[in-house]
Amino acid sequence: MGVRETAKALEEIGIREVYLTEKLRKEPAKAETFQKDRRRLLEEHFSSFKNCTKCELHRSRSQVVFGDGNPYSPIVFVGEAPGEEEDIQGRPFVGRAGRYLNSKIEEILGLKREEVYITNVCKCRPPGNRKPTPSEINACFPYLKRELDIIKPKVICCLGATAGEGILGKKFSITKVRGNFYPYPYDPKIKVLLTYHPAYILRNPSADKDFVEDLNKLKEFIG
Ligand code: URA
Repeated sequence: MGVRETAKALEEIGIREVYLTEKLRKEPAKAETFQKDRRRLLEEHFSSFKNCTKCELHRSRSQVVFGDGNPYSPIVFVGEAPGEEEDIQGRPFVGRAGRYLNSKIEEILGLKREEVYITNVCKCRPPGNRKPTPSEINACFPYLKRELDIIKPKVICCLGATAGEGILGKKFSITKVRGNFYPYPYDPKIKVLLTYHPAYILRNPSADKDFVEDLNKLKEFIG
């Protein structure tokens, strides 16, 4: 059995992480093949909807903004939708809110941005950075769901009410539910942590301490 088949077989019985043997460590090409599995699946997934026209956002976007980062991370951050900078660069959270998020990931979780996975409920920029509508979020949801099916994280950290409502499929007040974990409806083993959106914290700096508290809960959960 090859490395990829072994990884698949292990995953089927619930083993998601293995330590590389001395032999694999000495064979970086084989180790890389092992690592590439989810990346390849994501690439195939992304190319399947790079020309998506399911909602009106396709008319004004520059490009579809896919998730990025480490698809083997136990943590996936989910935001709302790309803004201007993201629409230009084709990567999520690369503007001011993204820089704030990166700094908190480093400071609280002790991780680099590339070590976690970051994506959005809506993959195209709404004009003028307005909130995506429920029908735009619904049209995009199958893409996010497949992304999460491939990554199988331990926890999905929703940044803001729009992301949380997209993932959990119900409305709530973020100030009341932030800091709580909920089961992900499509796989209750995966937990959903709700917290504030970084752009909200930049507008309301007093929310920073709550965000730090929530990220500390996330860190504790991951262990
Ligand atoms: N805000 C989001 O919700 N997502 C991004 O990618 C950037 C800003």
